[in-house]
Formats: sequence, C-alpha cells, structure tokens
Amino acid sequence: MKIRKAVITAAGLGTRVLPASKAMPKEMIPIVDKPAIQYIAEECVKAGITDILIVLSRGKHVVEDHFDRSPDLEKKLYESGKLDTLNDMLNIAKMADFTYVRQQEQLGLGHAVLCAKNFVGNEPFAVLYGDDVIIGEDPAIAQLCRAYEKYGKGVAGIKEVSTEEVKKYSSMKIEPLESGLFSITDMVEKPSEEQIYSNYSILGRCILPPDIFEILETIPNGRNNELQLTDAMKVLARKDGMIGVDFTGKRYDMGNKLGILKAAIDVGLSRPELKDELAAYIKETAAKL
Ligand code: UTP
Repeated sequence: MKIRKAVITAAGLGTRVLPASKAMPKEMIPIVDKPAIQYIAEECVKAGITDILIVLSRGKHVVEDHFDRSPDLEKKLYESGKLDTLNDMLNIAKMADFTYVRQQEQLGLGHAVLCAKNFVGNEPFAVLYGDDVIIGEDPAIAQLCRAYEKYGKGVAGIKEVSTEEVKKYSSMKIEPLESGLFSITDMVEKPSEEQIYSNYSILGRCILPPDIFEILETIPNGRNNELQLTDAMKVLARKDGMIGVDFTGKRYDMGNKLGILKAAIDVGLSRPELKDELAAYIKETAAKL
C-alpha cells in the first residue's frame, strides 16, 4: 500500500536549544535560508506523500503561517518583478495538503503521535521528527516507504551510532535481511550499557500501521513519565516484527546546537551562490585553530 500521509511532530519544548527556542519553534530554525521543517516537508513531497499533519503546541502558529499563502508579500514580489522568489513562496503553500493539530501538553513523542489519530484514520502513515533534518539524493522517508511497500510491516529509520549516543536514543535487536535492511524483533529506549542489543538506533523517521494508536492508548508512560513512541514500537516489533532501514543521507539534529552549526556549513557549501566564499572563510578560520 502506498503511503499518502505524514505526521511531523513539532510540539516539543526544545530545551536544548534555548534561548533560540524560547519564542520561536526550534523546527523553524533556518538552515541557510529555509526553516528546518520545510526541508522535512519537502522530503515528504519528494516521496510522494500528499497529506501532512504537523503537531504543534502553544506559540508555534508561525509554522502554520510559513506553510500558508502570504498575499501582501506575493503582491510586493510580483510588483518588483522577483518572479522566481514569488514562485518559491507559492510552492511552499501548495506543495502538500497541510493540516495542524495541537498537543495541549508535552507528554512525549508517543503522545504527539496519538494526537494524529483522527487525521490518520485506518491506513499506514509516516512519522518524521520535526527537528531531524536528513539531506541526501534519495529522500530518507522514500527509502522507508519502499520498505513498507515491500514487506507490509512497520518500518524504522535506523543508523549505527556510538555507544554514548545509543544510551541517549534507543537500541535495536536486529538481524540482516538484505542490503541496508534489517528485521527488528525487539528494542529498548535509552538503554543502560547492559541493555544494549546493538548500536543501531531509531533516528527521526518511521512508517507505522494504524494499530499503533491502540498500543499507544494502552501502554503506560515510560522514561521521564512521558508516553514514549519507542515503547509502542517495541510492542509492535515483538508482535509482528518491524523492518529497519539503514537509510542513506546525512542527518542533522536541529534540537542540538552542534547539529545546527553542522547543517549550516554543509548546506552552505552545497549552494552554488555561497560555496566559494564560504569555503574560503572556513579555510581561513581553520588555519587559525
Ligand atoms: P525531542 O526529543 O527533541 O524533545 O523531540 P523536545 O522536548 O522537543 O526537546 P528537548 O529535549 O527539550 O531539547 C523530538 C521531536 O518530537 C517533538 C519535538 O518537537 C521534536 O520535533 N515532540 C516531543 C512533540 O511533538 N511532543 C512532545 O511531547 C515531545
């Protein structure tokens, strides 16, 4: 079955990037000239997803404005002949069918996904974490969609990370299936050293069957007394098995200061209008380090 719907979670408090995220959602932090969440929405569209629900919270209405039309700005751009920019602005609003829901309290990623129940209905859907930008030739979520279409099971985007990072994220019990694909039979959220199954963690993307809602409604709160999505996926993995996709593309954690800086440098270096001057500046700075 083809994946048509995506849920982008963007309701978190973003305490790791304060004060940037005090009055502005961290998902709106720009990488060069585009907010992080726009890269994520574009990734969905490239994968053939047509309907996007963004989970927001108090003070995050600027995300809705970003994906809306802006008649005053459009008029101004038209009158001043900036037709390419005008086109870019129009495309932001029409690239997908956007809807929004509010997560009234920040009770965890699992709870944020549960807020999407009505939007999703009875079909499999993609989940993308609003602060995880992945840049690559083949959109990461498209790689996961293909695995879903082939195996018909829940899919998680996974990557091998350091032991320190595994302890902060999650650890997957896996067996190789085919190139870049694994079968996941169990997992643990933020494991202690003894609980680690492998250094593969879920990073930022998954495809879930609608059964996940029933699981989310029945499991207890996990770490930090939050409803953890990983705990629900663990039930799914134990029951039906899941597929792990070791996706290609580079991931930037925009909920983390270093991630924001790395994204700015890499994306800046990929832009024809910036790359020469930026490279010269980086070399000049590096020579002084
Ligand atoms: P994080 O784990 O980065 O949590 O969420 P956070 O609360 O935003 O950040 P810190 O740890 O305080 O710095 C991963 C994604 O899930 C969303 C976040 O917006 C982010 O995009 N999220 C998290 C929600 O939508 N709701 C929640 O209750 C928690």
